[in-house]
Amino acid sequence: MDKLLIEGGVPLAGEVNISGAKNAALPLLCAALLTDQPLHLSNVPHLNDVSTMLRLLVQMGVDVTLDEKNGIVLNAGGLNKPEAPYDMVKTMRAAILTLGPLLARTGRARVSLPGGCAIGARPVDIHIRGLQAMGAEIHVEHGYILAKAKRLRGAKIFCDLVTVTGTENLMMAAALADGVTVIENAAREPEVVDLAICLNAMGAKVSGAGGDVITIEGVERLSGAHHRIMPDRIETGTFLVAAAVTGGRVRLNGTSCGILDAVVEKLREAGAKIDCREDAIEISAEAPLNAVNLRTAPYPAFPTDMQAQFMVLNSVARGSAMMTETIFENRFMHAQELRRLGADIEISGNNAVVKGVSRLDGATVMATDLRASACLVVAGLVARGETLIDRIYHLDRGYEHIEEKLSQLGARIRRVH
Ligand code: UD1
Repeated sequence: MDKLLIEGGVPLAGEVNISGAKNAALPLLCAALLTDQPLHLSNVPHLNDVSTMLRLLVQMGVDVTLDEKNGIVLNAGGLNKPEAPYDMVKTMRAAILTLGPLLARTGRARVSLPGGCAIGARPVDIHIRGLQAMGAEIHVEHGYILAKAKRLRGAKIFCDLVTVTGTENLMMAAALADGVTVIENAAREPEVVDLAICLNAMGAKVSGAGGDVITIEGVERLSGAHHRIMPDRIETGTFLVAAAVTGGRVRLNGTSCGILDAVVEKLREAGAKIDCREDAIEISAEAPLNAVNLRTAPYPAFPTDMQAQFMVLNSVARGSAMMTETIFENRFMHAQELRRLGADIEISGNNAVVKGVSRLDGATVMATDLRASACLVVAGLVARGETLIDRIYHLDRGYEHIEEKLSQLGARIRRVH
């Protein structure tokens, strides 16, 4: 199994390109299921989650061709097996995003329940209830969601909790439903907006995405389209934190502050200097930074996917900070690993009190989930001596060529087999 070996202490310097967003790419790939015409996506990130989703779509009968750049053309004209088996859904929960499109296009779907994952229970009850409100008959049998509907019909759906993939699933299903669907308490994440833009380019009538009420007027059929995937705001945020904690000076190309205001705001509060350009972000910082309190919540508030990386920032900052996680119940697993590097972190329920220490020391650590892995990489970059990170397959799910990009910025990092 691959590991990452990092020798910390080098301030990051230089520039790097930000990839297309994983969390936008996954629903967009599923949107191809809604039409028998080709959907051309560009700026697709090379990630294991994207490969898993493509394998899943191919298995359903979707034709996939890659172009020489970072583009993919998907053609679901031959869609014949509306099923997402357990072995794929268990490695990638986002496979649940096939449920809405399959049901809307073919009238049936058989999709494995995702089950729990390391960071929390993460049920899909809101996806299911929303589709039922649109007239679907849904049973759960032997761990599978079995759904059928002659034609979905528009409905008013109130989501009890803000759910990103839930909103996306319902939006895609509603695009081909008969009548108008209104999703209330919808997720406002930029990836939801990116999906709405693509759906509209395919001929859908989606309005209000980016707000908490989304209205979808169903259409008879959707056509092909060309869509460029938005930049990854979590990759952007991770590189910003890495630059800040190492006291570096970095320019990130192909991204913008507007998709991660809450993160930029916190970095400024910590003392980093950030210059927002039209299609780039520049950051410079002098370590140590100041500790910053934060609380995760749905967009536009501070993202849960950046909480772990900020725990490293607070671990080596001046002062102490309270960090509150409100989205997932078990998302502090990285704290234990950071303590192995010398961090001072107390966890009580969904609160973490982090007291800055003068330095972290490299050690062998284990990644437990995607963003926890990113946090350990950032910690390795700032720690004295060598940090060896085990189980980095989590990292490969969501960060494109991370060690190459960090090496480009001067980090001493390499993959060991
Ligand atoms: C998405 C992101 C993930 C991010 C998360 C929160 C993708 C592919 N993944 O995950 O990176 O960490 O948003 O920003 O976009 N919930 C229910 N019932 C449901 C659905 C959700 O109780 O039917 C709960 C979840 O357990 C969680 C909360 O709602 O506590 C938010 O989850 P949700 O927004 O659905 O996360 P994902 O869409 O899975």
